[in-house]
Amino acid sequence: MGFSVYVRREVPEPGMSILRSSCEVVDVNPREAIVPRDELLLQAAGRDGILVTGQDRVDAALLEAAGDGLKAVANYSVGYENVDVPTLTARRVGFSNTPDVLTETTADLAWALLMAAARRIAEADRYVREGRWHGWGPTQLLGVDVYGRTLGIIGAGRIGCATARRAAGFRMPVLYFNRSRRPELERDCGAERIELAELLRRSDFVSLHVAMNAETRHIIGARELALMKPTAVLVNTGRGPLVDEAALVEALKDGTIAAAGLDVFEEEPKVHPGLLPLDNVVLVPHIGSASQEARSKMAEVAATCLGAMMKGECPPQCVNPDVYDEV
Ligand code: 8YV
Repeated sequence: MGFSVYVRREVPEPGMSILRSSCEVVDVNPREAIVPRDELLLQAAGRDGILVTGQDRVDAALLEAAGDGLKAVANYSVGYENVDVPTLTARRVGFSNTPDVLTETTADLAWALLMAAARRIAEADRYVREGRWHGWGPTQLLGVDVYGRTLGIIGAGRIGCATARRAAGFRMPVLYFNRSRRPELERDCGAERIELAELLRRSDFVSLHVAMNAETRHIIGARELALMKPTAVLVNTGRGPLVDEAALVEALKDGTIAAAGLDVFEEEPKVHPGLLPLDNVVLVPHIGSASQEARSKMAEVAATCLGAMMKGECPPQCVNPDVYDEV
């Protein structure tokens, strides 16, 4: 008790109840939108803890604004490229994310996009709603088959592996590109680890699951798209800047690849204007973890971690446990 926390976006239950029962002051951004950065800096002052989303930048300026009393920051997100972790660690501020609880949910969305792009679901829905359907046709809205085709996973972390495991039901061979071998993926799914270029050449569906950093920025650009099959589908539920969006627009327009399904974008919430008129891309607004169950568990993890870290305890989801080492 006695703690003061600032919550950037109201999170689902039981997150808010956990915070209210463990803190004296819980101030929540009352708006339904991301508040301006200067308001975050203002609200951070004097707090013991801050609960941020993946859309907030957590850096030296924020720590400065918060002051020396800041003990913990919890990210309502598993990805944390928005956070300068070394700076937090240097200031002995604990930091947590939300791994595991959204893994299967995000893998479900990767498959939803894969299927939707392959079978032109969003386009077909528009076709019906707009009154353009005047009768069945033998060549109407033909897509590509999913069953038995090859799935290529770029990044075999938790979500990449969960996406790969779902391929068994579709009798799909799985290829993966990852820094290290994943023996359990090879054993359970018969997955084959290969280089990126070969994966792009051989896969019918390519799904992106690498973490976002300087090395992985534009891991898919014009050169990589050119290696893919003209019938291939690209799925991105990772991070927008993994894909060079301008190059993707060209590849979708000129038939270099068949289709794409995107949950994330280079400059969210902006979407490359070239994508909007294209029928062969399915666009959804960063909803990878957006199931009631996952968002509620993420809220529970973030709130519990924030409470623990403010008390000087190190929860399992703490990204910088060094902070809790005895000095
Ligand atoms: C979040 C995500 O909803 O966890 C992640 O890495 O991308 C999503 O689950 C998003 O970052 C909002 O904070």
